[in-house]
Amino acid sequence: MKIISKKKNSPIAFFDSGVGGLTVYSKLKQILPDEDYIYFGDTKHMPYGEKTEEELLTYSDEILNFFIKNNAKAVVMACNTTSSMIYEKIKNKYNLRIYPIIQSVASVLGELPVRKIGVFATHATVSSDAYKREIQKNNPNMEVFQIACPEWVRIVEEHKSNQPQSIIQIKDKLDEMMQYKPEKIVLGCTHYPYLINILSKFEPTEMFIDPAIYFAQYIKNDLQKNNLLENADGIEEFYVSASPENFKKASEMFYKLEELPQLALND
Ligand code: DGL
Repeated sequence: MKIISKKKNSPIAFFDSGVGGLTVYSKLKQILPDEDYIYFGDTKHMPYGEKTEEELLTYSDEILNFFIKNNAKAVVMACNTTSSMIYEKIKNKYNLRIYPIIQSVASVLGELPVRKIGVFATHATVSSDAYKREIQKNNPNMEVFQIACPEWVRIVEEHKSNQPQSIIQIKDKLDEMMQYKPEKIVLGCTHYPYLINILSKFEPTEMFIDPAIYFAQYIKNDLQKNNLLENADGIEEFYVSASPENFKKASEMFYKLEELPQLALND
């Protein structure tokens, strides 16, 4: 389907299952401060990494229609799980420019000067093999090791990263990954950069890659190329489908939120 350039002052829309997408949002906001933005955290259906393809298609359909109603000029799929599970199925279904995180950063990851790379992600992302496939499209010689860390999403959403039990769970997965001797480890779920302080207790911070940095630059370049950047008013709107207070508290490390309406799209 043809993508129409929207009129000026149409927001860039973001969605994720919760606070994770803010790790991407904060990076894009830094390099494009004057754009208008709308963010939807689908906390009611979190964790996405444990959902079926059909469920994710239903949730994303509601969210994308909400963005269309809000005149979004582009949608940032700031969620590795939906990028790996449903992006290919929906990319031509809506009259929207959609940016999927994995496919947008894979070429940069493939160009890194390393031979072995690790990926921490959700169950869904790991079983889809999306990171391995996309990185090896660009660099067939890079070895990619993927480990699922589903419990990390709740640790972040429930603001439990400093609890001893959480630290043990995080270290266990890191130990498992280090057996493969990766030279870098991609945090392949947008929630995981919230755990960087814990991960860095055991390995140097430089070991970990937050793909959001590359992703934000990719989005900016593409919007620029397509003449879609604008000097708007820098308006930000955030919505969640459940537990706004939890979301506010969990998000603090990446973004301070003033107002946070709860919005049930399917009611
Ligand atoms: N943060 C999302 C991702 O990047 C989904 C996490 C979840 O809800 O399981 O995969």
